[in-house]
Amino acid sequence: SVVVPTATGDKGDDILSSLPTREGWWTTFVLYHGCWMTPQTARSVSLVRAQFAPRDDDVVLATYPKCGTTWLKALAFAITNRSSHPVGAGDHPLLTQSPHDLVPFIELPFRHIHPLAAALDAIPSPRLLGTHMQHHLLPPRVDELGCRIVYLCREPKDVIVSLWHFINKHVEEPDRVLFLKYDDMMADPTGHVKKLAKFLRVPFTDDEVDAGVVEEVVTLCSFEKLSRLPVNSSGVVDRIGGRLVHNSAFFRKGKVEEWKNYLTEEMAKKLDAVVEEKLKGSGLTF
Ligand code: A3P
Repeated sequence: SVVVPTATGDKGDDILSSLPTREGWWTTFVLYHGCWMTPQTARSVSLVRAQFAPRDDDVVLATYPKCGTTWLKALAFAITNRSSHPVGAGDHPLLTQSPHDLVPFIELPFRHIHPLAAALDAIPSPRLLGTHMQHHLLPPRVDELGCRIVYLCREPKDVIVSLWHFINKHVEEPDRVLFLKYDDMMADPTGHVKKLAKFLRVPFTDDEVDAGVVEEVVTLCSFEKLSRLPVNSSGVVDRIGGRLVHNSAFFRKGKVEEWKNYLTEEMAKKLDAVVEEKLKGSGLTF
């Protein structure tokens, strides 16, 4: 059984031991607030819900794993910080630091390691924060304060997404939620970078557009550029809290429709049917 600390101290209810469990393909999962996740994730999410203090000017970059989190973090960082870090500068932080270190996850490393989420509290406003948590798992204050959310998803056959509830709740809040698709970003990166900058409240000026700053952001954050940097192509880091991950693991091919090389037509049809059923009526199609 796992002891979950409460908001106020180290002692707490043993909530995880009472959750339903299921054997997954690589570990045991628990059912927490309607989502299957690892016990560590459940514990971390429960701590975040108890301890994370959102601010009204937070921007949350929400993604399902493998939907382009690293790319979105790089783009949002480059756009937001371009007055202090000009995009073409030789000492740009993205050239030497991983997008995951520049834009931290709310729920990682598993927050029992940093019980008071002090690392997040220390970040000056306005904060850019990443999360893989489903919307209803985020602390309710995120909505109450009106924190803005960028949600990025991807062709479900490349990554199986499960976000029906999230979409249903947010399609009607265009000022507070920006919904992006990896596949659309690939097709028109400059258009999406402009859109993202506007949403982040740092729109590109006409002079910047004329000077090619938008294209510079696209190039700096491109798969080709980021994946070749030593910081992203070598070394292992434990950002999760207990598991080493190769920096290069976040960069594989960066292509759309890669699933065609891996799935049979029959598998694709089955997945399409599941996606169609789950996303029916959500307004989201791929
Ligand atoms: P592939 O495995 O299809 O290549 P995440 O960042 O959410 O973990 O997603 C990883 C996926 O995004 C991988 O997809 C990876 O190659 C791709 N990716 C990483 N950086 C990217 C970038 N700058 N531009 C486009 N795709 C990128």
